[in-house]
Amino acid sequence: MTRHIVSVIGGKDSQAAAPYKSVNPARVEQVVAEVGLADAETFAGACRVGAGAQRDWAKVPAPVRGRVIASIGRLVEENAETLARLVTDEIGKPYAEALGEVREIVDTCDFFLGEGRRLYGQTVPSEMPDKSLFTFRVPVGVAAIITAGNFPVAVPSWYLVPALLCGNAVIWKPAEYAAASAHSLYRLFAAAGLPDGVLNIVFADGAATFAGLDQALGEGSVQKVGFTGSSEVGRKIGELCGRHLQSPCLELGGKNPMVIMPDADLDLAVEGALFAGFGTAGQRCTSLGTVIVHESIHDDFVARYTAAVRAASIGDPTGDVICGPLLDHKFADRFEEYLTWVEPHHQVLTGPTGKITESSPRGEFTGDGGLYYHPVVVDGVRPDDRLFLEETFGPIVGVTTFETLDEAIHLANKPGYGLSSSIYTTNPTSVFRFRESVSAGMLSVNNSTSGAEAHLPFGGNGKSGNGSRQSGMWVLDQFTRWQAMNWDYSGHLQKAQMDVAEIIPDTGFRL
Ligand code: UN1
Repeated sequence: MTRHIVSVIGGKDSQAAAPYKSVNPARVEQVVAEVGLADAETFAGACRVGAGAQRDWAKVPAPVRGRVIASIGRLVEENAETLARLVTDEIGKPYAEALGEVREIVDTCDFFLGEGRRLYGQTVPSEMPDKSLFTFRVPVGVAAIITAGNFPVAVPSWYLVPALLCGNAVIWKPAEYAAASAHSLYRLFAAAGLPDGVLNIVFADGAATFAGLDQALGEGSVQKVGFTGSSEVGRKIGELCGRHLQSPCLELGGKNPMVIMPDADLDLAVEGALFAGFGTAGQRCTSLGTVIVHESIHDDFVARYTAAVRAASIGDPTGDVICGPLLDHKFADRFEEYLTWVEPHHQVLTGPTGKITESSPRGEFTGDGGLYYHPVVVDGVRPDDRLFLEETFGPIVGVTTFETLDEAIHLANKPGYGLSSSIYTTNPTSVFRFRESVSAGMLSVNNSTSGAEAHLPFGGNGKSGNGSRQSGMWVLDQFTRWQAMNWDYSGHLQKAQMDVAEIIPDTGFRL
C-alpha cells in the first residue's frame, strides 16, 4: 500500500513543493510512500511555529512532560511490530534488527520518563551569609533535528525524547528515503498528547533544509541543531551554526576499528566481526571498518572469517537474514564507488563483488529486484589506502595486521574518525592500554563495534563529531542550558570577593 504523506506543522498537514517516492529497497518497484517535500520557507515557517508553541510547553511541569514521554513509550511498545515491519519495508533492515531498533525507542522513553521528576539543579553555598546560590536547567528553545535513515526511528528518538522532556519544541527533518517510518513515529508522538506545534515534522531535501535552517537561525527561531549524517554535511552544518554562535550536536561517520590480540577467543572475534561488518548491511555509523589483527593469528582469523561471511544469510529482510539490501539507490550508487577503491595489492577473500543479480547470484539468490550486494572482505589493506582511511558505508570490511599493541592503537586512530572501536583480548592490561589511547568515544571489549546501549553517552571525536554526546543523562546538556541564580536576603548589598569574612591562620606556626 502506498502512503501519501506531507510535512505536519502545528498539527496540520502542510503544502508540498515537490514530489518524492520512498521505495522498498528489497523490491525497488514497490513505492512505500509518495512524499510531498517542503521548500526552505516552509522549513523556516515551521521553526517559527515551534517557537510560538515552545513557550507554553516549557511552562508544563517537567513531571507532567515526563508522563507524556511515558505515554510515547507505551504507544511505541503497543505498535512495535507494525512500526518494525514498516522500517523493514522502507529501508530493508532485517526484521529482527528493526524490532531491536524500535525497542531502543522504548528504552529511551523508559530512561527519560523519570528524568521529568529529576532534571536536577543544585543548591550551592555562598561565600557570604544570608545569601544562597542555585542552578537551574533551562530549555534551549527550538531544536531543529536532521536525521539519517539507517536508524529511521531509534536515533531520532535519542534527540526528540530528551528535547521534548526538557521543555523544547522540535522541528524534525528525517531522511526522505525513510519518510514513512518517520511519519509513523511522529503520529505515535502526537497520539501521546503533545500540544500542536511542539513537535513538527518537515520533509525536505538537503538544499531546502540548509536554506531554511540558515533563515531560521537568522530569524532567531532555532537555538539548537542536531544532525546525524556524513562528516561532509556535518562540517557544513557546523560552519553554519558557528556563524550564528551556536554549537550543534553532531553525530557523524566512522571508520571503526576492531583490534584482535593474539590471546583473543577467535571464534568470538569472528562472530563479532561478522555482525559488526555486515549487520544492517554494514550501514550503521558504528559498523566495522577495518579488522586490525595480530600477524601471528592473521591466517587463522582470515580463514574463519571468510568462511563465516561466505556462509552468512543474505536476502529478504522480512526473513531470518543477517544482511538485507542497501538502504536506497543513493547508497547503492555510493557503495559501487567504494568498490572501486579496491586496489591491485588487495585480496578480495569473499568471491564476487557488486550487485547480486541473475548473472552474479549468491548461491540460489539472484537479488529479487532489490539493492542487494555481495559482502566483501578485503585483505592486505595498507594504512595509506583509501579503503583504510575513509568510511565505506555498506557491506565491506578491510583487514590489516600489526606486531605490537602500540602499533595497533596507532592504526586504530589513523583515519581520524573516532566514533566506535573494539578490542578482542583476554588480557586486562591490553584492554586498559587500548582504552586510554584509542581516540573513539566508545569502545567494546570482546563485542561488536556496533550495538551501543541507549543509556550510555553516544558520540564521537575527530571526524565523527564535535564532542557532543547523545543518550543517557549526558544529552541533557544539549537540550538545556545552565542558569545560575544568587539570592541575597541579608538586607544590604554584599559584594562578592570583597565583603567576604576571612579567618586568619597563624602561618608562622611550626610543630
Ligand atoms: C547509527 O548508526 O547512527 O550502536 C546509530 C549502535 C546502534 C545505534 C547506531 N545502537 O549500533
